[in-house]
Amino acid sequence: MATYRICLIEGDGIGHEVIPAARRVLDAAGFSAEYIDAEAGYEYYLDHGTSVPQATYDAVENTHATLFGAATSPSGEKPAGFFGAIRHLRQKYGLYANVRPTRTRPVPGAYENVDLVIVRENTQGLYVEQERRYGDTAIADTVITKDASLRIGQFAANLAMKRGRRLTVVHKANVLPVTQGLFLNTILDHAATVDGLNTSTMIVDNAAMQLVRNPQQFDVMVMTNMFGDILSDLAAGLVGGLGIAASGNVGDQFGIFESVHGSAPDIAGQGVSNPTATILAAVLMLDHLGDHETARRIDTAVNKVLTEGPRTRDLGGTAGTDEFTNAVIKALA
Ligand code: NAI
Ligand code: MG
Repeated sequence: MATYRICLIEGDGIGHEVIPAARRVLDAAGFSAEYIDAEAGYEYYLDHGTSVPQATYDAVENTHATLFGAATSPSGEKPAGFFGAIRHLRQKYGLYANVRPTRTRPVPGAYENVDLVIVRENTQGLYVEQERRYGDTAIADTVITKDASLRIGQFAANLAMKRGRRLTVVHKANVLPVTQGLFLNTILDHAATVDGLNTSTMIVDNAAMQLVRNPQQFDVMVMTNMFGDILSDLAAGLVGGLGIAASGNVGDQFGIFESVHGSAPDIAGQGVSNPTATILAAVLMLDHLGDHETARRIDTAVNKVLTEGPRTRDLGGTAGTDEFTNAVIKALA
């Protein structure tokens, strides 16, 4: 009997390449799992008229964790019945913390000694997707509650206490004192009660500049949904790009682990996508499940291949998805 049951959702685009690659690595590392394949995303919507079927809810709910590929959201007006699969799953399962670590990896052009985590509030802000239009005027709601701000603040403070004990609350309360102010002040009030935590604040535009100029100053950064979405891609760009950036969506009950990147339609189907981000998302999943030993072995094997090659195209190499994955599996042996 396998120890864990894992839900795999390939989704769209390069999800069909990176999820099978990550699964092969998990198998080669001896991770004891039974896998349940489930569907979600835009391709599923086009065939079936909904983005997430009931069978996928069942699979997420009846497994220990989910590994997610990527889901396309077409830009512009949403077709009838369509919704963004991953945002929907984050909301439905109360996966309030989106944890996005950025750590220096041995790849060309990466900043040295970066080791920070962006904790992105995952259920509110502008991503409640409440938009409407009155003639030539368009309005989007941003929703911030004290409860959700406290919950993410506690999560980020706890994480910081296990790391470098430094927490930066990133905000725009100078322009949006009501919504951003509630987020900021709720977290600051909580942080003040945590013994030994060094808390600072930073306005988001300065945070973008500081990340580029001196990312080594940061330990844990906490922010609202859209700021976290944007700054986590920026942070990924400091250390090798989206091909290696992993994330976890965690709540009190469920966890869905995924890359930071999307479905990459510009390269999908060519077999050239870098599976590292999804393999490292699987590493985050293993740590979440408590299998730290397998997590460290896979992480070490990935770093060995990133150092010695072969590398994928996004990192300046020529390897395809399979060649890279085979090298990771060999490095595990
Ligand atoms: P993207 O992250 O899919 O791609 C951005 C750029 O990075 C592209 O040039 C792509 O080729 C490259 N890239 C991404 N992942 C890569 C990998 N593993 N290996 C090599 N190169 C990689 O973002 P984009 O193009 O803005 O969005 C495409 C679609 O993905 C959109 O429909 C968007 O809504 C969706 N998306 C979904 C996400 C999710 O499922 N969590 C997150 C971000 C975007
Ligand atoms: Mg994003």
